[in-house]
Parts: sequence; C-alpha cells; structure tokens
Amino acid sequence: MTNMTSFWDKLPKPFFALAPLYDVTDFAFREMIARRRSPSLEASAHRGGPDVMFTEFVSVDGLYHEKARAKLTKLHLGFSEIQRPIVAQLWGTKPELFFQAARLVRELDFNGVDVNMGCPDKKVVAAGAGAALIKNPTLAQEIITATQEGIGDLPISVKTRIGYERDTLDAWLPKLLEAKPAAVTVHARTVKEMSKVPADWQAVRRAVVIAEGSGTLIVGNGDINSLAMAKQRAAESGADGVMIGRGVFGGYWFFTGRTEIPLAERLQALVEHAEIFEANFAGIKNFAMLRKHFAAVVQGFAGAKDLRMKLMRAESAAAVREVINSASGGE
Ligand SMILES: Cc1cc2nc3c(=O)[nH]c(=O)nc-3n(C[C@H](O)[C@H](O)[C@H](O)COP(=O)(O)O)c2cc1C
Repeated sequence: MTNMTSFWDKLPKPFFALAPLYDVTDFAFREMIARRRSPSLEASAHRGGPDVMFTEFVSVDGLYHEKARAKLTKLHLGFSEIQRPIVAQLWGTKPELFFQAARLVRELDFNGVDVNMGCPDKKVVAAGAGAALIKNPTLAQEIITATQEGIGDLPISVKTRIGYERDTLDAWLPKLLEAKPAAVTVHARTVKEMSKVPADWQAVRRAVVIAEGSGTLIVGNGDINSLAMAKQRAAESGADGVMIGRGVFGGYWFFTGRTEIPLAERLQALVEHAEIFEANFAGIKNFAMLRKHFAAVVQGFAGAKDLRMKLMRAESAAAVREVINSASGGE
C-alpha cells in the first residue's frame, strides 16, 4: 500500500520494466536480461538493465491446487537474486484465492505481487478474469484488497488497459486508485483494439494526471522498440516508468542501450540461453519453446535462414552449441 515504502519508491525516474510475456519472459529469458546489467553501473540510477521484472502470469486457481502448485511454481515462479526486484503476476477472479496465492508469493520471497487486469485471451476473459475485470470494478477492488491482505507489507500493483470496448480510463483508473496500489501499469489500448492499433500514449499522459497526488505510480506500456523511445515517451507522458514487452524479444541487450551487437555475440547468447533453459526446465518444459528466440535472434544476415533451420532441429543446449559453433567457424 502507498503508506508503506517498498522497492517501487526506490526506483529511478523514469524507470524501465520488463513486461510479463507468457511463454517468453520465463526464468531463462529474465536471467539472460539480468546478466546483461552492467556491474560497473550498479551504483548509478540505471544499471543497464530493467529496474524491475515481472513473471509470466500465473493462475490463482492453479496455485490453489496442491498438485498443480509445485509444477506451476517451478515453471513460472522461479527466480534468481540477480533478477530482483521481481514481481509475481497473478490472474483469476476469486479474492480468497488471490489471498492464498499472495501468501505463497510472499513465502517465495518475491519483491511484490501484480494483478493481471488486462489480458484479452478469450478463455481468461470468459472466466471473468484478466481484462474482464475492467467491467467489474467492484470485484477488481475486492481482489486488490484480498491480495494486499495476503501479501502483508509487500507492495501490490495492477496491470491493465485503458478500457474494454472503448476508452473508459477516466472512470476505471480512479476505481483502481481507491484501492491504493503502489503502481498501475497502463497498456495504452482497449481490449477490443487488441494490438491492431498503435498504443495511445496520450492516454498514459491522462493516467498520470488522474493519478497525481494519489501516491500510485503510473507505468506506461505499449509499442516501445528502443530505450531511446522509452525515455522519450516517459518525458512526453510524465509516466513514472515505462514497461517494454515485445520490443525486448530477440534483443537481450535492450536495456543496456547497446544497439549494434556483433553477430558472434548474438549467436553465443543463444547458446547461453539454451543452457540456462535446460538447467532450469529439463523435463518440465519443452526445449522447442526456445525456437521463437532462435527465430527472433537469427535473422538479417547472410546464411540466417539456413542457421535457423538447423537450430529448429536442435533438442539440447549441446546441440545448439554445436550448430552455432560450426556456423561461426565456417564464416
Ligand atoms: C506473447 C505475449 C504474452 C503476454 N503475456 C502476458 C502476461 O502473462 N501478463 C500480462 O500482463 N501481459 C502479457 N502480455 C502483454 C504484454 O505484457 C504487454 O502489455 C503488451 O505486449 C504491450 O506491450 P509491448 O508493445 O511493449 O509488447 C503478453 C503479450 C504477448 C505478446
């Protein structure tokens, strides 16, 4: 709650957040990003890395069932010290299950908890969760209160959109602010717009004005593809922070501000990513999950297609290393 200090209050302004992207920003991806923070910048406001990271969203119903809990925890709620500050993101509809899940998040020693009120996925919305909560502000408030009770003195944040069918931010955001979250991330689109129209950063500006004096930080989100753009959008909108999702995909160096990464370094990063993935997820997460990262990194150079094809067939970190090393050796 806003009357307690938390890591949110200690972040630089503007701060930069790595968005939750289901099946993308898992432990392995976050570890890659965290390892690229520069130790020499540790003392400065920005460490060449995201100032805060989020887990992929996890169902509170799933976490409630003992059998699913262990698996979901291993799959989605693992983190390392260098990934801090890290926030666990939850989704669901039942306040009492949010209470239970928040207690687990606290036991797991996260830095905070985030409630998903923006996911447009058909199944999630049909269950009344994610973005459907925009249409049910009373339940949204109950969920925040129950989560706050479960999380104790750790901070709670909310990630949402500007409206469901249309932009209703002016009515929706005040409802959230009444529940006094430490931060609200505003993905600057309605649910109906999905990702088909550009994010409306004017709406982020409006969110900042609405939240002024509330003690709740506003994080803008949507369509940021470089650190320079993130800084510009923060300055224009007055947002306390900027969250970046798809723009980081394939670019482990996004937050460092480095833009020209030598090919050899990019390829070796894939080997490292595969090794971290295997060490953490062997037996519980299909190695093929990495293919989207191979495709995102291996592009835009002669021979990329051929190398991609070879990587798609790799089924272990050792195989990835072999493919990359033989490609690099043959250059
Ligand atoms: C593949 C994918 C998975 C996502 N998973 C989540 C999620 O688990 N939780 C969440 O709050 N948002 C999720 N999002 C939404 C992103 O966090 C973000 O709000 C959205 O992509 C817009 O930001 P961007 O333009 O910087 O990507 C997901 C988006 C994508 C593309």
